[in-house]
Amino acid sequence: MESAQHYIEDILHSKVANETVVELKGWLYNKRSSGKVKFIEFRDGTGILQCVLHKSHTEEAAFAAFDEAEQEASIVIKGKVAQSPRGDWELHLQELKLIAPAKDYPITPKEHGPHFLLDRRHLWIRSKKQMATLRIRAEVIRAARNFFDNRGFTLFDAPIFTPNACEGTSELFEIDYFNDQKAYLTQSGQLYAEAGAMALGKVYVLGPTFRAEKSKTRRHLTEFWMLEPEVAYLDVDGSMQLAEDMLCDIVQEVLANRKHELALLGRSIEALEKIKKPFARMHYKEAAEYLEKHSKDNFKEGMDFGGGDESILSSLHEQPLFVHRFPKNIKAFYMKEDEADSKYSLSFDLLAPDGYGEIIGGSERETSLPLLEKKIAEHKLNQADFEWYLDLRRFGNVPHAGFGMGIERLVAWLCGSSHVRETIPFPRMITRLTP
Ligand code: 4AD
Ligand code: MG
Repeated sequence: MESAQHYIEDILHSKVANETVVELKGWLYNKRSSGKVKFIEFRDGTGILQCVLHKSHTEEAAFAAFDEAEQEASIVIKGKVAQSPRGDWELHLQELKLIAPAKDYPITPKEHGPHFLLDRRHLWIRSKKQMATLRIRAEVIRAARNFFDNRGFTLFDAPIFTPNACEGTSELFEIDYFNDQKAYLTQSGQLYAEAGAMALGKVYVLGPTFRAEKSKTRRHLTEFWMLEPEVAYLDVDGSMQLAEDMLCDIVQEVLANRKHELALLGRSIEALEKIKKPFARMHYKEAAEYLEKHSKDNFKEGMDFGGGDESILSSLHEQPLFVHRFPKNIKAFYMKEDEADSKYSLSFDLLAPDGYGEIIGGSERETSLPLLEKKIAEHKLNQADFEWYLDLRRFGNVPHAGFGMGIERLVAWLCGSSHVRETIPFPRMITRLTP
């Protein structure tokens, strides 16, 4: 019988006994010689492992293959699991077989500029930090889905082609559809999630969303993934509570399963270990007062926060910060008015610490049919496009709330990335559509 395939991850997590002989399949990440000893950094997609070649345990042919194999050549190796003098797991190589060459691999261990790397994103994702970031991204999505699946939510897939705007008409990607119709790439699955919540009670949408935003910042992509739970009979405070529980759970899971990757990225584990509820909550009014004194962008009460303002607020605490009840006239049409003061809406943003800014936006949804009709007109939207949505208020109307979390913004904060473009396999931005 074939023995089970081994992976570096299992070795690094001490799941393979010391001195076990294993065969690993992967690529040469880096190599160096120091006198008679030669070293390979070997990668197999689950991690990177140091391999030692020495004539006391390595066969002759392996040295020839070592000389021939370049960075990123595919190789299969066999050796004995061992511990370095520093206590790190490594492999004492016995055999090395070259599978295919990688002549003049363009990304070398020296520094490259971001454009050079982004042009070669299909290869760049093989680099240490990129691999670690993408594994953390997958872990975040796994943990988030588990969180909702374990709480009785139903996964609910919203369409990508939509006939109407959700978050404002200025940021829509328009597409020619059949019979002279216009379609738009979805900006958010929320309106459909609301229909889902009326059918299934608790749902979540997870999918790509598109914004034709002319923002060239480290927080903006034109295509990004959003996770949007929506719950019937939930209010704005319940929605914040849900966001808080979910985020704490995701952070715990990433710490439990991806510590190695966080360390590789140089991310402070202690800072993430401090992420515990309750998060601070601040009324918009209070945040506005603070910003009027400290904003560098001439912030005035009533305005939406700029990126700089969010950074200032999110540097106030070690924990994420909820800012709630934004003025209704700077927010989307579907947000419910605050009965306590109708100048405000029952909305919230969650700002990540360390200056990362908004990672979640949510609200309680307007239930009043006349108010919604009025808002749709005020936002210069075509009511005919929203009749299906208004049906949700006509038939079995209930209070409901939810939120949307940008996966890339969350991953950027968790990884300490300087730009969201490194948190998605193939980023799409105003000036980047390739590879
Ligand atoms: O605050 P937003 O616009 O909220 C909505 O779309 C609601 N319909 C969500 C809901 O209540 N179901 O976007 C939600 C999140 C933001 O907090 C941010 O994390 C992310 O989506 N986001 C972006 N991420 C990357 N690039 C962009 N251009 C983004 N725009 C929003
Ligand atoms: Mg927002």
